[in-house]
Amino acid sequence: MSGAGNAGEEQEQEQEQERHRKEEEKHWKDVARTFLWYREFVVDDLKQRQQHLNHLSDRHASLLPSSTFEKIEAVAHAALGNQDMLTDLVMHYSQEYGVPMPEKRVGDPISPERQHRNEAVLHSLYREWTLEAKEERDATFAPLLAALQRHLPVSSPELAYRQRVLVPGCGAGRLPAEVAVLGYAAEGNEFSAYMLMASNFILNGVDKPNVYTFYPFLERVSNVVGANDPLQGLSLPDSVAVEMMKNSPYYHLYVNGDQDSDEDPGDADAMSVAGEGEAQEQEEDGEKFELCCVCRDPKSTAKRWKNMPMRPPLGMSSGDFVAIYGEKELSNPAGSYDCVMTCFFIDTAPNVIEYIETIFYALRPGGVWINLGPLLYHWSKDQDYNGDERYNKSIELSYEEVRHVVKKVGFVFLEEDRVKCTYTRHRRSIMHTEFNALFFVAKKPSDQGKKSNKSNKSNKDMKDNDK
Ligand SMILES: C[S@@+](CC[C@H](N)C(=O)[O-])C[C@H]1O[C@@H](n2cnc3c(N)ncnc32)[C@H](O)[C@@H]1O
Repeated sequence: MSGAGNAGEEQEQEQEQERHRKEEEKHWKDVARTFLWYREFVVDDLKQRQQHLNHLSDRHASLLPSSTFEKIEAVAHAALGNQDMLTDLVMHYSQEYGVPMPEKRVGDPISPERQHRNEAVLHSLYREWTLEAKEERDATFAPLLAALQRHLPVSSPELAYRQRVLVPGCGAGRLPAEVAVLGYAAEGNEFSAYMLMASNFILNGVDKPNVYTFYPFLERVSNVVGANDPLQGLSLPDSVAVEMMKNSPYYHLYVNGDQDSDEDPGDADAMSVAGEGEAQEQEEDGEKFELCCVCRDPKSTAKRWKNMPMRPPLGMSSGDFVAIYGEKELSNPAGSYDCVMTCFFIDTAPNVIEYIETIFYALRPGGVWINLGPLLYHWSKDQDYNGDERYNKSIELSYEEVRHVVKKVGFVFLEEDRVKCTYTRHRRSIMHTEFNALFFVAKKPSDQGKKSNKSNKSNKDMKDNDK
């Protein structure tokens, strides 16, 4: 090929990269703008409800308690609380990334359908970071953490933050934070920009407990017992991530443990240090504690920590699990993790076999996969008719079939059980869904190196993940 041909190709590639970068930037901005639209969508919805009430006959209206009419105003007011919190979340993102605070009305219109994304974030923050949902966490996160300690105990201080635990699909980040508190080097992974912004905010941006009062079920209109139940304000967060870490018996080992190393644990791709006071105090002491470094490019982190004796307690990667951790991603060598912990995750795959292979690939020989969750396949039906190609690829395997694949890929089951649990359950609601969730621990045999079929999944753009 001629020099001119090469130059042309390079230019095309650069243009393609630039186009991609702009698209990603726009996606993150639109996600931030969606958070800023939250209250306006609530108010629009309330206007409709008010109209329905206005259309009631005088006789029917007179039969209702006055609270029915007052509730509309109260919901609009409570939505301010949620909006304040979501606005802080966006402000934190904008400060951390050094991007200007987006203007909600500048750019393409944000469709009201996106409100379900805001609601999903509010529900995840409820599940993971409120006292009211502790019971739910005790039923789901606790068995996973107990299994981790059973199979890979941090049996001596020398092991602290050396065993790597990957938590894909980690939502608002509580589970990897709990893993880190137990002395493991935890790495969350998420592909939703909504969840990534939320976890970054709660892990790095909130330095006091109970600073927000929010209303995660404000928009519930069905299966409500008391008229004011959706107006129940909850405190957020029940725990501050950096305090959780500081109270960990392993914390001092991390803070002091890096002193022998030549490498500086902090660098430009670290996203933040939780709590300003905390950061200052640590810098004065000549120590640096990154609670959660979110990196857009996990390659740099992989390289950065490769020869380090101790790893950061908590990191986060953004992007599709298979694309980042599968065989295709060469910078992420096989066998990098001691444990992969999946919670309500495996059914998010259009093809669960890809997830199983990726988990196998990511684990070191002798490493364990700990799973808890249902098989409520996310891509089985295109309810929004948004035409995402993943709906056309969805395979929905029974547990028997999943088990078969898990063994065929090379895993050996160590534990199997069923666990009764819920997902974002509102305790006051008339309707509850209880899962008799699958729980298992499966091991990649110690004598087994790399054994998995090549993954064909390409690196998906962030914008595709939030469909
Ligand atoms: C049902 S939620 C569970 C969240 C959390 N593990 C919990 O138990 O509360 C599934 C999460 O996985 C994320 N997710 C789905 N597919 C993913 C993928 N391919 N890669 C990374 N994250 C993914 C979603 O954005 C969502 O936050």
